Amino acid sequence: MTARSSLLGDLDADVTLDAPIGAMTWYGIGGHADILVSPKSQEALVTLMQRCRAEEMPVRVLGGGANLLVDDGGVDGVVIRLDHEHFRSTAFNARGDVTAARVGAGVDLFRLVQDMARRGLAGFEMMAGIPGTIGGAVRMNAGGTWGAMSDVLEVITAVDFDGLLRSWNASDLAFQYRCSNLPPCVVTDVTLTLHETDPIDVRDRVKQIFQHKRASQPMADHSAGCAFRNPKDPTTHEPLSAGRLIDEAGLKGHHIGGAEVSDQHANFIVARPGASSTDIRKLIDEVQARVAKTSGIELEPEVVIWQRGVDP
Ligand code: EPU
Repeated sequence: MTARSSLLGDLDADVTLDAPIGAMTWYGIGGHADILVSPKSQEALVTLMQRCRAEEMPVRVLGGGANLLVDDGGVDGVVIRLDHEHFRSTAFNARGDVTAARVGAGVDLFRLVQDMARRGLAGFEMMAGIPGTIGGAVRMNAGGTWGAMSDVLEVITAVDFDGLLRSWNASDLAFQYRCSNLPPCVVTDVTLTLHETDPIDVRDRVKQIFQHKRASQPMADHSAGCAFRNPKDPTTHEPLSAGRLIDEAGLKGHHIGGAEVSDQHANFIVARPGASSTDIRKLIDEVQARVAKTSGIELEPEVVIWQRGVDP
Protein backbone atom coordinates (compact mmCIF):
# COMPACT_ATOMS: atom_id res chain seq x y z
CA MET A 1 0.00 0.00 0.00
CA THR A 2 1.42 3.45 -0.91
CA ALA A 3 1.51 6.30 1.61
CA ARG A 4 -1.11 8.08 -0.47
CA SER A 5 -3.58 5.17 -0.50
CA SER A 6 -3.17 4.51 3.23
CA LEU A 7 -3.94 8.19 3.75
CA LEU A 8 -6.79 8.68 1.32
CA GLY A 9 -8.14 5.18 0.56
CA ASP A 10 -11.81 4.72 1.47
CA LEU A 11 -12.10 8.25 2.80
CA ASP A 12 -15.50 9.94 2.52
CA ALA A 13 -14.02 13.06 0.96
CA ASP A 14 -13.32 14.91 -2.28
CA VAL A 15 -9.61 14.71 -3.04
CA THR A 16 -7.68 16.85 -5.53
CA LEU A 17 -4.02 16.20 -6.26
CA ASP A 18 -1.81 19.14 -7.29
CA ALA A 19 -4.62 21.54 -6.39
CA PRO A 20 -4.27 25.23 -7.37
CA ILE A 21 -4.88 26.62 -3.88
CA GLY A 22 -3.11 29.95 -4.54
CA ALA A 23 -5.93 30.80 -6.94
CA MET A 24 -8.45 30.05 -4.15
CA THR A 25 -7.08 32.79 -1.87
CA TRP A 26 -8.15 36.44 -1.90
CA TYR A 27 -4.74 37.32 -3.33
CA GLY A 28 -5.50 34.89 -6.16
CA ILE A 29 -1.79 34.07 -6.59
CA GLY A 30 0.69 31.41 -5.48
CA GLY A 31 1.28 27.73 -6.12
CA HIS A 32 -0.42 24.38 -5.68
CA ALA A 33 -1.02 21.99 -2.79
CA ASP A 34 0.20 18.42 -3.23
CA ILE A 35 -3.10 17.13 -1.78
CA LEU A 36 -6.33 19.03 -1.12
CA VAL A 37 -8.99 17.15 0.84
CA SER A 38 -12.56 18.21 1.44
CA PRO A 39 -14.07 15.77 4.01
CA LYS A 40 -17.80 15.13 3.71
CA SER A 41 -18.42 14.42 7.40
CA GLN A 42 -16.91 14.88 10.84
CA GLU A 43 -16.04 11.15 10.91
CA ALA A 44 -14.10 11.54 7.66
CA LEU A 45 -12.21 14.48 9.16
CA VAL A 46 -11.39 12.46 12.30
CA THR A 47 -10.11 9.54 10.16
CA LEU A 48 -8.06 11.88 7.99
CA MET A 49 -6.44 13.58 10.99
CA GLN A 50 -5.59 10.19 12.56
CA ARG A 51 -4.04 8.97 9.31
CA CYS A 52 -2.06 12.20 8.81
CA ARG A 53 -0.70 11.84 12.35
CA ALA A 54 0.27 8.19 11.68
CA GLU A 55 1.98 9.12 8.39
CA GLU A 56 3.59 12.25 9.91
CA MET A 57 2.04 14.25 7.11
CA PRO A 58 1.97 18.05 7.50
CA VAL A 59 -1.60 19.38 7.71
CA ARG A 60 -2.78 22.87 6.85
CA VAL A 61 -6.34 24.16 7.01
CA LEU A 62 -7.62 26.43 4.27
CA GLY A 63 -10.52 28.64 5.35
CA GLY A 64 -11.73 31.36 3.02
CA GLY A 65 -8.12 32.16 2.04
CA ALA A 66 -8.70 35.77 3.06
CA ASN A 67 -5.61 36.23 5.21
CA LEU A 68 -3.28 33.89 3.38
CA LEU A 69 -0.38 34.09 0.95
CA VAL A 70 0.60 30.80 -0.72
CA ASP A 71 4.23 30.67 -1.83
CA ASP A 72 4.86 30.44 -5.59
CA GLY A 73 6.38 26.97 -4.98
CA GLY A 74 3.14 25.72 -3.36
CA VAL A 75 2.86 23.55 -0.24
CA ASP A 76 3.54 19.95 0.71
CA GLY A 77 1.41 17.56 2.76
CA VAL A 78 -2.36 17.77 3.11
CA VAL A 79 -4.48 20.90 2.87
CA ILE A 80 -7.95 20.47 4.38
CA ARG A 81 -10.89 22.55 3.29
CA LEU A 82 -14.25 22.34 5.09
CA ASP A 83 -16.31 23.50 2.14
CA HIS A 84 -18.63 20.48 1.98
CA GLU A 85 -22.31 21.11 2.81
CA HIS A 86 -21.86 19.22 6.11
CA PHE A 87 -19.63 22.02 7.46
CA ARG A 88 -21.68 24.89 6.04
CA SER A 89 -24.95 24.71 7.95
CA THR A 90 -26.33 27.12 10.54
CA ALA A 91 -29.00 26.37 13.19
CA PHE A 92 -30.65 28.94 15.45
CA ASN A 93 -32.03 28.20 18.89
CA ALA A 94 -33.88 30.92 20.85
CA ARG A 95 -33.31 30.92 24.63
CA GLY A 96 -35.33 33.78 26.08
CA ASP A 97 -34.01 37.08 24.73
CA VAL A 98 -30.77 35.54 23.50
CA THR A 99 -30.34 33.24 20.52
CA ALA A 100 -27.65 30.63 20.16
CA ALA A 101 -26.43 30.07 16.62
CA ARG A 102 -24.60 26.86 15.87
CA VAL A 103 -22.49 27.63 12.83
CA GLY A 104 -20.37 25.27 10.71
CA ALA A 105 -16.70 26.23 10.27
CA GLY A 106 -17.09 26.52 6.49
CA VAL A 107 -19.82 29.17 6.67
CA ASP A 108 -18.92 32.37 4.83
CA LEU A 109 -18.75 35.50 7.03
CA PHE A 110 -20.50 37.77 4.50
CA ARG A 111 -23.40 35.33 4.30
CA LEU A 112 -23.62 34.99 8.08
CA VAL A 113 -23.60 38.77 8.67
CA GLN A 114 -26.52 39.08 6.21
CA ASP A 115 -28.36 36.15 7.79
CA MET A 116 -28.03 37.63 11.31
CA ALA A 117 -29.26 41.03 10.08
CA ARG A 118 -32.28 39.49 8.36
CA ARG A 119 -33.21 37.68 11.56
CA GLY A 120 -32.68 40.77 13.75
CA LEU A 121 -29.87 39.15 15.71
CA ALA A 122 -27.45 41.72 17.12
CA GLY A 123 -23.83 41.12 18.09
CA PHE A 124 -22.23 39.94 14.86
CA GLU A 125 -22.24 43.26 12.97
CA MET A 126 -18.55 43.83 13.76
CA MET A 127 -17.74 41.15 11.18
CA ALA A 128 -19.28 43.23 8.35
CA GLY A 129 -16.81 43.57 5.50
CA ILE A 130 -14.39 40.96 6.92
CA PRO A 131 -13.90 38.18 4.39
CA GLY A 132 -13.36 34.51 5.25
CA THR A 133 -15.03 31.60 6.98
CA ILE A 134 -16.11 31.14 10.59
CA GLY A 135 -13.35 28.58 11.21
CA GLY A 136 -10.61 30.96 10.11
CA ALA A 137 -12.19 33.88 11.97
CA VAL A 138 -12.22 31.90 15.24
CA ARG A 139 -8.65 30.73 14.85
CA MET A 140 -7.29 34.27 14.43
CA ASN A 141 -9.96 36.01 16.54
CA ALA A 142 -10.81 38.15 13.51
CA GLY A 143 -12.34 41.55 14.04
CA GLY A 144 -11.59 45.24 13.92
CA THR A 145 -12.49 48.53 15.56
CA TRP A 146 -16.04 47.39 16.32
CA GLY A 147 -15.20 44.13 18.08
CA ALA A 148 -13.85 40.63 17.53
CA MET A 149 -15.15 37.05 17.21
CA SER A 150 -14.47 36.38 20.90
CA ASP A 151 -17.25 38.89 21.82
CA VAL A 152 -19.92 36.40 20.68
CA LEU A 153 -18.19 33.01 20.93
CA GLU A 154 -19.65 30.53 23.38
CA VAL A 155 -18.46 27.04 22.40
CA ILE A 156 -15.87 25.76 19.91
CA THR A 157 -15.92 22.19 18.57
CA ALA A 158 -12.90 20.87 16.72
CA VAL A 159 -10.86 17.84 15.73
CA ASP A 160 -7.32 18.00 17.09
CA PHE A 161 -4.13 16.84 15.39
CA ASP A 162 -4.41 13.40 17.03
CA GLY A 163 -7.85 13.02 15.44
CA LEU A 164 -9.77 13.49 18.69
CA LEU A 165 -13.06 15.35 18.81
CA ARG A 166 -12.69 18.24 21.28
CA SER A 167 -14.87 21.00 22.64
CA TRP A 168 -14.06 24.17 24.60
CA ASN A 169 -16.11 26.85 26.30
CA ALA A 170 -14.80 30.11 24.94
CA SER A 171 -14.77 31.51 28.49
CA ASP A 172 -12.06 28.94 29.39
CA LEU A 173 -9.78 30.19 26.61
CA ALA A 174 -7.87 33.47 26.34
CA PHE A 175 -8.64 35.54 23.25
CA GLN A 176 -6.53 38.56 22.45
CA TYR A 177 -5.90 40.88 19.53
CA ARG A 178 -5.92 38.59 16.44
CA CYS A 179 -4.91 35.48 18.44
CA SER A 180 -5.96 33.00 21.11
CA ASN A 181 -4.60 30.05 23.07
CA LEU A 182 -6.88 27.63 21.18
CA PRO A 183 -4.72 24.48 20.80
CA PRO A 184 -3.79 23.35 17.26
CA CYS A 185 -6.95 21.84 15.77
CA VAL A 186 -9.41 21.99 12.89
CA VAL A 187 -12.47 23.92 14.07
CA THR A 188 -15.62 22.17 12.84
CA ASP A 189 -18.36 24.34 14.32
CA VAL A 190 -19.02 27.01 16.92
CA THR A 191 -21.90 28.28 19.00
CA LEU A 192 -22.38 32.05 19.03
CA THR A 193 -24.63 34.07 21.35
CA LEU A 194 -26.68 36.87 19.79
CA HIS A 195 -29.36 39.23 21.08
CA GLU A 196 -32.74 39.62 19.43
CA THR A 197 -33.54 43.12 18.26
CA ASP A 198 -35.09 45.05 15.36
CA PRO A 199 -33.73 43.75 12.01
CA ILE A 200 -33.63 47.35 10.70
CA ASP A 201 -31.24 48.41 13.50
CA VAL A 202 -28.90 45.51 12.73
CA ARG A 203 -29.03 46.20 8.98
CA ASP A 204 -28.28 49.91 9.53
CA ARG A 205 -25.26 49.13 11.69
CA VAL A 206 -23.92 46.60 9.16
CA LYS A 207 -24.37 49.21 6.42
CA GLN A 208 -22.58 51.87 8.47
CA ILE A 209 -19.56 49.61 9.17
CA PHE A 210 -19.44 48.46 5.57
CA GLN A 211 -19.52 52.04 4.28
CA HIS A 212 -16.71 53.08 6.63
CA LYS A 213 -14.57 50.23 5.30
CA ARG A 214 -15.39 50.91 1.68
CA ALA A 215 -14.32 54.53 2.16
CA SER A 216 -11.03 53.72 3.91
CA GLN A 217 -9.92 50.32 2.56
CA PRO A 218 -9.21 49.00 -0.96
CA MET A 219 -11.95 46.37 -0.74
CA ALA A 220 -12.13 45.77 -4.49
CA ASP A 221 -8.41 45.01 -4.90
CA HIS A 222 -6.72 41.63 -4.42
CA SER A 223 -5.16 41.62 -0.95
CA ALA A 224 -5.12 39.65 2.30
CA GLY A 225 -6.66 42.48 4.32
CA CYS A 226 -4.25 44.23 6.64
CA ALA A 227 -0.73 43.04 5.97
CA PHE A 228 0.63 43.83 9.45
CA ARG A 229 -0.74 43.68 12.98
CA ASN A 230 -1.18 47.00 14.74
CA PRO A 231 1.88 47.32 17.04
CA LYS A 232 2.04 48.81 20.52
CA ASP A 233 3.98 51.94 21.37
CA PRO A 234 7.11 50.56 23.12
CA THR A 235 6.95 53.24 25.86
CA THR A 236 3.26 53.90 26.47
CA HIS A 237 2.03 50.42 25.30
CA GLU A 238 -0.83 52.22 23.55
CA PRO A 239 -1.89 50.60 20.23
CA LEU A 240 -0.48 52.27 17.13
CA SER A 241 -1.79 52.04 13.58
CA ALA A 242 0.48 50.05 11.27
CA GLY A 243 -1.23 51.82 8.33
CA ARG A 244 -0.31 55.23 9.68
CA LEU A 245 3.33 54.18 10.31
CA ILE A 246 3.67 52.84 6.75
CA ASP A 247 2.00 55.98 5.40
CA GLU A 248 4.36 58.20 7.42
CA ALA A 249 7.32 56.24 6.01
CA GLY A 250 6.18 57.54 2.59
CA LEU A 251 5.39 54.09 1.23
CA LYS A 252 1.90 54.55 -0.22
CA GLY A 253 1.97 53.52 -3.89
CA HIS A 254 5.44 51.96 -3.54
CA HIS A 255 5.68 48.72 -5.52
CA ILE A 256 7.88 45.73 -6.23
CA GLY A 257 6.84 43.94 -9.43
CA GLY A 258 3.06 43.61 -9.21
CA ALA A 259 2.91 44.08 -5.41
CA GLU A 260 1.89 47.55 -4.28
CA VAL A 261 1.29 49.41 -1.03
CA SER A 262 -2.29 50.65 -1.43
CA ASP A 263 -2.76 54.36 -1.98
CA GLN A 264 -6.01 54.16 -0.06
CA HIS A 265 -4.80 52.42 3.12
CA ALA A 266 -1.08 51.82 3.60
CA ASN A 267 -1.55 48.59 5.60
CA PHE A 268 -2.93 46.83 2.52
CA ILE A 269 -0.43 45.26 0.13
CA VAL A 270 -2.37 44.66 -3.05
CA ALA A 271 -1.61 42.35 -5.97
CA ARG A 272 -1.77 44.03 -9.37
CA PRO A 273 -2.13 41.87 -12.53
CA GLY A 274 1.00 39.75 -12.99
CA ALA A 275 2.03 39.92 -9.31
CA SER A 276 3.73 36.87 -7.80
CA SER A 277 3.81 35.74 -4.18
CA THR A 278 7.53 36.50 -4.24
CA ASP A 279 6.75 40.15 -5.14
CA ILE A 280 4.38 40.37 -2.16
CA ARG A 281 6.91 38.84 0.23
CA LYS A 282 9.69 41.14 -0.96
CA LEU A 283 7.42 44.14 -0.43
CA ILE A 284 6.44 42.92 3.07
CA ASP A 285 10.17 42.69 3.93
CA GLU A 286 10.89 46.12 2.50
CA VAL A 287 7.97 47.77 4.34
CA GLN A 288 9.18 46.19 7.60
CA ALA A 289 12.73 47.48 7.02
CA ARG A 290 11.63 51.00 6.03
CA VAL A 291 9.21 51.39 8.97
CA ALA A 292 11.87 50.08 11.39
CA LYS A 293 14.19 52.76 10.03
CA THR A 294 11.73 55.66 10.20
CA SER A 295 9.91 54.81 13.45
CA GLY A 296 12.05 52.21 15.23
CA ILE A 297 9.03 49.88 15.30
CA GLU A 298 9.18 46.27 14.09
CA LEU A 299 5.97 45.45 12.25
CA GLU A 300 4.77 41.89 12.50
CA PRO A 301 2.95 40.40 9.47
CA GLU A 302 -0.70 39.57 10.04
CA VAL A 303 -0.96 37.72 6.75
CA VAL A 304 -0.15 34.02 7.08
CA ILE A 305 2.44 32.71 4.60
CA TRP A 306 2.42 29.04 3.53
CA GLN A 307 5.61 27.56 2.16
CA ARG A 308 6.74 24.09 1.12
CA GLY A 309 8.91 22.46 3.79
CA VAL A 310 8.17 25.12 6.39
CA ASP A 311 6.12 23.89 9.35
CA PRO A 312 2.52 25.11 9.13
N1 EPU B 1 -4.14 55.87 8.71
C1 EPU B 1 -3.26 56.67 8.01
N2 EPU B 1 -2.81 56.24 6.78
C2 EPU B 1 -3.22 55.05 6.25
C3 EPU B 1 -4.10 54.24 6.97
C4 EPU B 1 -4.56 54.68 8.20
O1 EPU B 1 -2.87 57.74 8.46
O2 EPU B 1 -2.77 54.73 5.13
C5 EPU B 1 -4.65 56.35 10.00
C6 EPU B 1 -6.15 56.60 9.91
O3 EPU B 1 -6.42 57.89 9.42
C7 EPU B 1 -6.61 56.40 11.33
C8 EPU B 1 -5.64 55.37 11.89
O4 EPU B 1 -4.52 55.34 10.98
O5 EPU B 1 -6.45 57.60 12.07
C9 EPU B 1 -6.27 53.99 12.02
O6 EPU B 1 -6.71 53.56 10.74
P1 EPU B 1 -8.04 52.66 10.53
O7 EPU B 1 -9.21 53.32 11.18
O8 EPU B 1 -8.13 52.33 9.09
O9 EPU B 1 -7.78 51.38 11.39
P2 EPU B 1 -6.58 50.37 11.37
O10 EPU B 1 -6.06 50.27 12.76
O11 EPU B 1 -5.61 50.67 10.30
C10 EPU B 1 -7.99 48.23 11.98
C11 EPU B 1 -7.78 46.78 11.60
C12 EPU B 1 -8.52 46.49 10.29
C13 EPU B 1 -9.99 46.81 10.45
C14 EPU B 1 -10.09 48.32 10.82
C15 EPU B 1 -11.53 48.75 11.01
C16 EPU B 1 -5.60 45.83 12.16
C17 EPU B 1 -4.19 45.66 11.72
N3 EPU B 1 -6.36 46.54 11.33
O12 EPU B 1 -7.32 49.01 10.99
O13 EPU B 1 -8.43 45.08 10.09
O14 EPU B 1 -10.68 46.56 9.25
O15 EPU B 1 -9.36 48.54 12.06
O16 EPU B 1 -12.14 47.93 11.97
O17 EPU B 1 -5.99 45.34 13.20
C18 EPU B 1 -7.43 43.22 9.01
O18 EPU B 1 -7.27 42.74 10.14
O19 EPU B 1 -7.16 42.59 7.96
C19 EPU B 1 -7.95 44.58 8.90
C20 EPU B 1 -7.97 45.23 7.74
